[in-house]
Amino acid sequence: MVDSAAHSVTASIDLFAGAPADRLAEAYQRLVSELWRDGRATEHTLPAVPHLVACLDRVDEARQGRLAILLGLLAEVERPAAHGRVHAAVRAPLDRYLTLWRRAPRGQGLSLALQYLLAHFPEDRHRVLAVADDLSLDADYRSRLDRALLRFDADDPEPQIGRAFPYPTAWEMDERERAHDRAQVASLSAEQKAAQWHKDTSTVLGFIGAQAYWAVLHDAPIPPIEPDSLPPRYPDPPEADPEIFRRHEAAFRCPKCGESLRFTAAAARCTGCAGAYRITRGMLDSTASAGGTGGADFLSQLVKIPTMAHFIESKARPNFKRLCGFTWDGPVTAGVEEKLIAELVHPVDGPVLDVAAGPGGFTLALAKAVGHQRVIALDLMPQMLASLRHRLPQVPAVVANARTLPFGDGTLGAAMCWNGPHAFLYEDTAPIFAEISRCLRPGGTFTTYSFRDSGDPIYRYFVGSHHFPQSEHGLRMYDLDEFKGWLADAGLVVREESAVGLAFFITAEKQALGTRG
Ligand SMILES: C[S@@+](CC[C@H](N)C(=O)[O-])C[C@H]1O[C@@H](n2cnc3c(N)ncnc32)[C@H](O)[C@@H]1O
Repeated sequence: MVDSAAHSVTASIDLFAGAPADRLAEAYQRLVSELWRDGRATEHTLPAVPHLVACLDRVDEARQGRLAILLGLLAEVERPAAHGRVHAAVRAPLDRYLTLWRRAPRGQGLSLALQYLLAHFPEDRHRVLAVADDLSLDADYRSRLDRALLRFDADDPEPQIGRAFPYPTAWEMDERERAHDRAQVASLSAEQKAAQWHKDTSTVLGFIGAQAYWAVLHDAPIPPIEPDSLPPRYPDPPEADPEIFRRHEAAFRCPKCGESLRFTAAAARCTGCAGAYRITRGMLDSTASAGGTGGADFLSQLVKIPTMAHFIESKARPNFKRLCGFTWDGPVTAGVEEKLIAELVHPVDGPVLDVAAGPGGFTLALAKAVGHQRVIALDLMPQMLASLRHRLPQVPAVVANARTLPFGDGTLGAAMCWNGPHAFLYEDTAPIFAEISRCLRPGGTFTTYSFRDSGDPIYRYFVGSHHFPQSEHGLRMYDLDEFKGWLADAGLVVREESAVGLAFFITAEKQALGTRG
């Protein structure tokens, strides 16, 4: 029984080693599925490791890259445990890997795949980093490798946690922000610190693996492209003329009772109940009545991590798009996005809402396309909207959860959620589409840009290894049919649809009353 299983694996290795180019993908997936399933080993894994390593000596670079990815996947099947048998077997030929890495063409698939494999051996941290330094790795690659090769120290009162994506040194926080982080970390239990550490390690390995896997299948990735226009590091949102809200008074509604709101410079007051919502520097806080939390608390949120929006646009988003889009050659540039927004958003009468507008990079494009007087921006986080308001002083901003939009039925001319749905809690996506549809006028459009799950189990695993606050069990992208089903259920009919890699762009139209089947 065992012999025939072993025979089957060596046969799969031979098949992979000898497969013609047009059968290579299939032979590789077959081999992978015999030894690895969604992050777990199979009963064939351990005895197969020496055969995989031996195979490295007899195949071309493209196959060596694929083998290095597979060995890396196997090296982490026992994580977070550090000393499993599979890990030890994969680690044993370390010298072989290091020699291969020194010779591999720099920045290409094999070199990146070996970095992924070598990132699993904290025991050999100094040896691996010494070669990295000889090879003059770029700062972002070096930073990820450095972090992956660190072990968790339970006695460290201030472990560096929560700042792993897209690479630790990308977080150029100032001293006040670091103090904020330290206080957050200090409030965690020992178990919480360890759990977050392992999530960060998983995020770093997932990023290294995803990039390497793409490079093995394609070519050298290009560096992430920062957009031309970035938010300031320290946003200073201006006070707002109440007129920027008043011109949309017909659309706004009290989130508590649904009656109209009346705007002054400092607040929006409900005409139906006692609800009053503070406006601070052009940001309407529809999450709390003005009598409640108070402006001081609201403003204090802005200063906790003031450089967050700058970081997101300069570092996080360009990398997130490459990762989730499977587009490491960067085809979805800011210029392409601006053009798409201008082409796809078709408003009828009424304001145009940017849902999950964040720091406003795409709100700028929307305002350019439809005119800033038509735009309202909405987001959960005041830190994001502070940047948006700094850049777009004529655009009113609303702090709200998109599950409850403070607008009346059929009042909006169009809505956009660009690079946004995947930031919602997964289970919130369908209710948020229903809420957007409720607020749209018939004929108004909802335009969105998001990502679907990869059909390749290896790439899906790498994306799913990323842990962000809204995806504590790992990043999950959409099944496109399910996503479109939610739009249909919300009464939104898909009018335009396109895709680049795993990124998709959809424009759906609110049906006129009585046209739903
Ligand atoms: C990935 S960022 C994208 C922001 C912006 N569209 C961009 O690409 O620059 C996602 C944003 O969604 C916001 N967000 C997440 N869940 C939300 C919700 N339920 N309602 C409103 N905004 C939400 C976050 O605060 C964050 O600013």
